[in-house]
Amino acid sequence: MKNIVLIGFMGVGKGALARHLVRKDHELYALDTDDMIESLTNTKIKKIFATAGEPAFRALERKTADWLSKNVTNAVISTGGGFFKVPNLKEIGTVVYLKADFEWIYARIIGAPNAKKKLKKRPLFQDVAKARKLFNERYEAYEEVADIVIDMESGDLDAIADEVLKKLKC
Ligand code: S3P
Repeated sequence: MKNIVLIGFMGVGKGALARHLVRKDHELYALDTDDMIESLTNTKIKKIFATAGEPAFRALERKTADWLSKNVTNAVISTGGGFFKVPNLKEIGTVVYLKADFEWIYARIIGAPNAKKKLKKRPLFQDVAKARKLFNERYEAYEEVADIVIDMESGDLDAIADEVLKKLKC
């Protein structure tokens, strides 16, 4: 297998599911595109948005996507919520869309013990109405680009990880 690429809206649980997947399949290694961009630039995502702006951040996502497609195999890659728009997404690996509706996602974020931190680090989730609008603009496109769609709303990450691995083997 090349890689598993987890896409979906902010806060749906891409990073959390990636950690479950690597625990179940020891051949896999976990990577996260936001973490990669922060390491590359030595700058937090929030600061990149505030100083360089969103277009600069999207260019860093495309650079990361190019590098991943050329150099990485056997990884489960959690991505930022807008990463699915990189032109070579499908060359990186099998694209898995983690699906949930906006209200479920919002409840997951605000119900987390570190909710304030989770919201603070996400420049596009500072205003709930704007985040909801962004979700409405994106959800069909996530589904269109995906090879596999996984419903996250059970919240049972262990069972969901099994389901992903089973679907990948088909
Ligand atoms: C973004 C999602 C964020 C991060 C950046 C932009 C988006 O990642 O990449 O703030 O456009 O949806 P998470 O999905 O991990 O929050």
